[in-house]
Amino acid sequence: MVDRLSLKQVVLVRIQVPQPAFCYTCIIMRIPTIRLATENDPNASIVEKTRNWIKKIHYNADHLLQTEYWVTQLNSDASDELRVACVAHDVERVFKEGRVPEGSDEEGENIIWDDEVYNLWHGTRSARLTADFLRAHNQSKEFIKKVTHIIERHEVGGDDDQNLIQAADSISFLEVNADRFIRNIGKRYTKAQVRAKFDYMYNRIQVPRAKTLAQPFYTAAISKLS
Ligand SMILES: [Fe+2]
Repeated sequence: MVDRLSLKQVVLVRIQVPQPAFCYTCIIMRIPTIRLATENDPNASIVEKTRNWIKKIHYNADHLLQTEYWVTQLNSDASDELRVACVAHDVERVFKEGRVPEGSDEEGENIIWDDEVYNLWHGTRSARLTADFLRAHNQSKEFIKKVTHIIERHEVGGDDDQNLIQAADSISFLEVNADRFIRNIGKRYTKAQVRAKFDYMYNRIQVPRAKTLAQPFYTAAISKLS
C-alpha cells in the first residue's frame, strides 16, 4: 500500500497570471505554485503526513482525526508520537488482505466488545502497518517504537499515553461513530450489542477528565437508542 501511495506525488496547482497589457512582443507568464500537503510532501510534518494518509485510505477518517483532537484537549503538550498514534490507531481495518481476526471482530456475529485477545491483535496489526508507513517516511527507530507502543494497547490502555489514546478514542467514538452504529441496528448489530458497545466505550475510560468530556456524548447516544 505504501509503495503504491508513494507514486502519487505532491499536488501542484498552477495559477496563471495574465500577460501585462503593455507588453506587445513577449509573453511573460508568471506561474506561482501553491503546494497542497500530501503524505509525500517533504515540507509537511509527520503528523500532517499521517493525517493525509488516513484521509486518503480510511472509511472512518473523521473518527481517527477527532481522536487526535480529543487527545490534545486532554494533554495540550501531546507529543507527535501520541498524535500520530491517534490518527493511525485503527488503520489495519482497511488492509483487508490477510486480515484474520484472533477473537471477536467488529464485523463478527458473536461480538464481545472487551475481548482482550482481539483488541490486542487489532492494536498490534495497526501498529505494524503504521510502522511501515513511518519507516517509508524516514522516521527514526525511536519515534516508530514510541508510536507502535501507544497503538498496540490503544483499546486496553496501560501507561499514561496508552490511557490517553484509549480515552480520546472513546470520546471520539461516542461523538462520531454512535449514529453509524445505531443505523446498523437490525443489519450488522442488535440493539443490545450497540448498547453494550456504548457502555463499553464509556466505561473503559481511565482518565477522569476524559470521562467528563465523554459524558454528554454517551448520554446523547443512549437517548437515541431508546
Ligand atoms: Fe481500535
